Amino acid sequence: MTNSTRKILVTSALPYANGSIHLGHLLEYIQTDIWVRFQKSRGNQCTYVCADDAHGTAIMLRAEKEGRSPEAQIAAVKAEHEADFAGFQIGFDNFHSTHSEENRHFSEEIYKACRDKGHIAVRSITQLFDPVKEIFLADRYIKGECPKCGAGDQYGDNCESCGATYTPADLKNPYSTISGATPVEKESEHYFFKLPDFDAFLKEWTRSGTLQDEVANKLQEWLDSGLQEWDISRDAPYFGFEIPDAPGKYFYVWLDAPIGYMASFKNLCDSEQGKAAGLDFDEYWNKDSSAELYHFIGKDIINFHALFWPSMLSAAEYRTPTAVNAHGFVTGNGAKMSKSRGTFIKARTYLNHLNPTYLRYYFAAKLGSSVDDFDLNLEDFVQRANTDLVNKLVNIASRTANFVKKSGGKLSDTCVEEAMVQDFINAGDSIAAHYEAREFGKAMKEIMALADRANEYIQEKAPWAMNKEEGRQQEVIEVCSVAINLFRQLITYLAPVLPEIAEKTAEFLNLDNLNWESRSTILLGHEINKFKPMLARAEMDKVTAILEETKTELAIENGEKPAAETKTADAKQSKKQEKKQKSKGPELREDGNEVIADTIEFPDFAKVDLRVARIVKADHVEGADKLLQLTLDIGNGETRNVFSGIKAAYQPEDLEGKLTIMVANLAPRKMKFGLSEGMVLAAGPGGSEIYLLEPNEGSQPGMRVM
Ligand code: MSP
Ligand code: ZN
Repeated sequence: MTNSTRKILVTSALPYANGSIHLGHLLEYIQTDIWVRFQKSRGNQCTYVCADDAHGTAIMLRAEKEGRSPEAQIAAVKAEHEADFAGFQIGFDNFHSTHSEENRHFSEEIYKACRDKGHIAVRSITQLFDPVKEIFLADRYIKGECPKCGAGDQYGDNCESCGATYTPADLKNPYSTISGATPVEKESEHYFFKLPDFDAFLKEWTRSGTLQDEVANKLQEWLDSGLQEWDISRDAPYFGFEIPDAPGKYFYVWLDAPIGYMASFKNLCDSEQGKAAGLDFDEYWNKDSSAELYHFIGKDIINFHALFWPSMLSAAEYRTPTAVNAHGFVTGNGAKMSKSRGTFIKARTYLNHLNPTYLRYYFAAKLGSSVDDFDLNLEDFVQRANTDLVNKLVNIASRTANFVKKSGGKLSDTCVEEAMVQDFINAGDSIAAHYEAREFGKAMKEIMALADRANEYIQEKAPWAMNKEEGRQQEVIEVCSVAINLFRQLITYLAPVLPEIAEKTAEFLNLDNLNWESRSTILLGHEINKFKPMLARAEMDKVTAILEETKTELAIENGEKPAAETKTADAKQSKKQEKKQKSKGPELREDGNEVIADTIEFPDFAKVDLRVARIVKADHVEGADKLLQLTLDIGNGETRNVFSGIKAAYQPEDLEGKLTIMVANLAPRKMKFGLSEGMVLAAGPGGSEIYLLEPNEGSQPGMRVM
């Protein structure tokens, strides 16, 4: 083991200032916080900074809607975010904002460095523009009719009805979701960061141990297919920083967001706290810095952190990150977290009912160093927290502490199980290696195996029985002293995950701290304090209460009255909400940026119930110029009513009697003309060129398609 103190700067992604923190976000902040607390426990100088990501159109519009200035809006959200993070014991050394003087300074400086080295290009582009609101429209602010099937109210990238993908300019009867006006095309000058200039640099940087292999492999595909210039400007009105040499042009939010990491650190360095800690900005950010820099992020924002960000830093002659650590997504019952499914739980809603300790532990137990997604199963969560933390862990102390306290409160002067205690101490090295490698799940597993051993020991010795026997009091103290020493080792290892329990334990054990190295001495003849209950069981009805409150929040957001009787209305509204969420497409984030597409596993595909169906009836639909109404026989005497956008391609009478393939378990969808209970499969570019998929004669209605 080395004694040299590492200097480490750690960040989590900056949460958007236009929404609340939810449990998905918390995976990241808890992951980072555990890693940081571990480093601090090891005696390293580790600093953890974050900030709100305060710029962009969404925040500007939200402020307008709430009737306040963007500054007032982001201040309110910042206070909310900070309270939520504190509630989950996220120990930031500083939480700042990208709308800050420090950030303006570094954004301008880095931009100018890029410009002066010729890495900025300026050219005109044409975009859709809202002539009423006088604002350029990002794709997500444009809706219209699907160019293929004619379904109304579709976003500018894909159709939720027929699944077609297209660009906003292809939409029929497009409108701005901001003003309702018809967008017009308009030209303006944009500023581009010439990412292709960094091709050689990136090819090396992404392979130099800075990224997980799976991430580096994904980026390789982009690097191989050629990098594109990156549009870094937005026209006024925009809430952000004006570009120094370009009045009326603003830095795109993603340009100054990562620079916010530097700004938050600088703000800390300049504070009393930072000065007392001797933090020096240059020591961490100079080109030849020997400090370590880690960014913890979700896998949806890898391109910003592993392509643009290191390129900008290297252009401006700053150091680049030591590593970018990406994690996967928390899903709810296998799907993207969604409000309607009740899996989009706000941090505050959770805190209203449950202790954060359970979630911190559960996430730790589930986390590894990969970018795999993981499912938040609330029953599993409650059970795991109770079994491991209450039954196994806290029990060790609660079963033994009182015997010591009653006979004077001092641990025994000798250790009667030195070998076992030494085993627990030695285990610290491999547990530490797991923490360092972000393999928290493996660390938890080792720790819980030790806890099992401690419990077996106590069970076998049964001090409570011994205590009833004459003349065995000394033995009782010896056994309980062993147990308490083991408990101390376990809590030392769990302290990064369970800071509150660690604090209570330090008080109980009368110790200043539970730092990693301090565990090596066995506590002998040591005075302890009264044991107070550390953690109650997590109750399933608290989880139910969280889900109920989440439902109520959703109803209020949708302007409904949140009464229990409105169940059916709730469900309908939920469906609508869910569809809205889906229609944005899983490939697009809130800010409209693409995420790295995932492949699906076979079980995902197997969820789709594809069946052979016979079209027994086909009709025109009054008032619909794209749709035909189909009655499908799907075997076993079951029929389905489906609306399909194939009117331009087929005469109803030609369809009757045909076999086709339908998605039989698609959630029913209420349309203007009635309920559509599934969809039929077709191929083709659209319009009159749509070809219904027709299975071979041998197949029968009701057969499953595999
Ligand atoms: N503002 C940008 C980050 C800028 S960093 C210079 C952003 N904000 S965010 O609020 O959308 O997300 C913040 C972090 O939370 C991201 O790393 C994102 O991947 C993560 N998560 C958001 N939802 C998540 C889950 N459901 N599961 C796990 N992490 C999730 O992106
Ligand atoms: Zn469509």
